Amino acid sequence: MILVTGGAGFIGANFVLDWLTAASEAVLNVDKLTYAGNLGTLKSVQSDPKHIFARADICDRAAIDVLLSQHKPRAILHFAAESHVDRSIHGPAEFVQTNVVGTFTLLEAALAYWKTLPGADQMAFRFLHVSTDEVFGSLSANDAPFSETTPYAPNSPYSATKAASDHLVRAYGHTYGLPVVTTNCSNNYGPYQFPEKLIPLVIGNALSGKPLPVYGDGQNIRDWLYVGDHCAAIREVLARGRPGETYNVGGWNEKTNLDVVHAVCDLLDRLKAKASGSYRDQITFVADRPGHDRRYAIDARKLERELGWKPAETFETGIDKTVRWYLDNPAWVDEVASGEYRKWVEANYAQRV
Ligand code: NAD
Ligand code: TYD
Repeated sequence: MILVTGGAGFIGANFVLDWLTAASEAVLNVDKLTYAGNLGTLKSVQSDPKHIFARADICDRAAIDVLLSQHKPRAILHFAAESHVDRSIHGPAEFVQTNVVGTFTLLEAALAYWKTLPGADQMAFRFLHVSTDEVFGSLSANDAPFSETTPYAPNSPYSATKAASDHLVRAYGHTYGLPVVTTNCSNNYGPYQFPEKLIPLVIGNALSGKPLPVYGDGQNIRDWLYVGDHCAAIREVLARGRPGETYNVGGWNEKTNLDVVHAVCDLLDRLKAKASGSYRDQITFVADRPGHDRRYAIDARKLERELGWKPAETFETGIDKTVRWYLDNPAWVDEVASGEYRKWVEANYAQRV
């Protein structure tokens, strides 16, 4: 079996659902269930004997040791993290704890477990670390996209803690021989994304008649990738990625935030028109995020060249699927938008407008 951390979050859960559809191998899903982890996302696999869920914190070495020795996975896919830049600005401590101390603890547990494996199993074992393009910092308009050799220059507490975790993973490969591989992916979107992130936030606010908050001038650029394409890339890297290597994952879809918000509004205008006017009328420019990175862009040619991966979705097909999914699944959003989430919205947006 494989062990997935953070498999009740956005990307982890999409990965688990895709895996259980496509593969016959079981998944041990280890998640602390923070505000961002939702078992509701995993309802369809609740009674699947190939899905074993364990509520545990990756910082809890004893709990991870027990899970590893009981289930003997052939690989660890590490998705668990604190993942929201704005939250990392309001409260970085949790990011240091989970992203740095948690990854370190998981590496220690993985290394101890790996050393107990017979030779052939040691060779086949993988520790796949799921990371972000944000570790590379911010690009200017004319800079070449981030490649695997771009120097790290993280700018937010989130990206700094992810960078630290990437370095630890690299060191465990280099120093101890643990077969590690890291993916650095651009911004994801798709079903089951927690509604605090840009695209689901805009869909939800649009439908409930609230302002659509665009930070600063709306000209910051992100390189958007449909989550199913990210999951497919991770499966390829797990199967054929070379230990010690890193792979950039991206959709070749650079968009300004305003373009993204316009695309969502235009789809909603077609699929669920308002009585009068356009959803674009709700767009409100608000105070910028401190230290807001201007542009991210990914050069994903290594992944294409070595493993033949290419995104299946364009931004247009992916965003259409995503908006339709949120329109069809209002109950999921209601379920995850707890009291804690409402407090976060108050804390993040009250001071901006
Ligand atoms: P998410 O915030 O939606 O989910 C994170 C999951 O990790 C949640 O289920 C949460 O309960 C769990 N978790 C948090 N702390 C934990 C702990 N201490 N122990 C065990 N579980 C814990 O995040 P996401 O968007 O799905 O991102 C998943 C991974 O992908 C992260 O490592 C993130 O850095 C990376 N990533 C995300 C994006 C993106 O656009 N969302 C892009 C590139 C890389
Ligand atoms: P986000 O989804 O938080 O991802 P990240 O900051 O990790 O790239 O935000 C994507 C972009 O959208 C980012 O440039 C910030 C911007 N943004 C807004 O303009 N308004 C919002 O309310 C949010 C949440 C984000």
